[in-house]
Amino acid sequence: MNRRKLLSWLTLSGISGLLSVVIGACTKQGSNQEIAIPKTETSQNGFFKVGNLEDLDETGRLLKTLEGDKKVLVVRDANQSETLYALNPTCTHQGCPVDLGEDSKDIFCPCHGSTYKADGTVIKGPASRPLENYQVKVEGNAIWVNPTVA
Ligand code: FES
Repeated sequence: MNRRKLLSWLTLSGISGLLSVVIGACTKQGSNQEIAIPKTETSQNGFFKVGNLEDLDETGRLLKTLEGDKKVLVVRDANQSETLYALNPTCTHQGCPVDLGEDSKDIFCPCHGSTYKADGTVIKGPASRPLENYQVKVEGNAIWVNPTVA
C-alpha cells in the first residue's frame, strides 16, 4: 500500500468511525423504550406468557411486546391485588402510548392528558373510549395474556 492509498484509507476510516458515533448517539434517544421492553417467547391456545407475578413493578404494572409488535400492559388492581387487567397501552384518543412513569394507580396519556383506571375505563378525557381489554389469566406464578379484545 503506497502512502496516498494509506492516507485515503485512514481518512475514510476516520469519517466512518465518526458517523458511527453520531448515528449511535441519535438512535439511542429515540429507542430507549423499545430496548427496555423484552419480547415474549411462548404461546398456548392464543395466550402468551408475558411474565411472572414478581415481574410486576412497584406500581403493579408490566409492559410487554408480543409477536407482531403488539404491546400489552398488565396492571394490578390497586384495590384488589389478586385482580389483573391486560390492556392495549395505546390511547384511544389519538394513539399515543400511555405513560407508565406515573407513581399513581391511574394510567396517564402524556399527549393530551387523558387518564384511565387500571381496568382501562376513562376517568378524564379527551379520550371517550376505554383502553382495549385483553383476556388475562394467572397459572401458578405465570401471567398469560390472549391479545384479542375480550
Ligand atoms: Fe392520548 Fe390525546 S392521544 S389524550
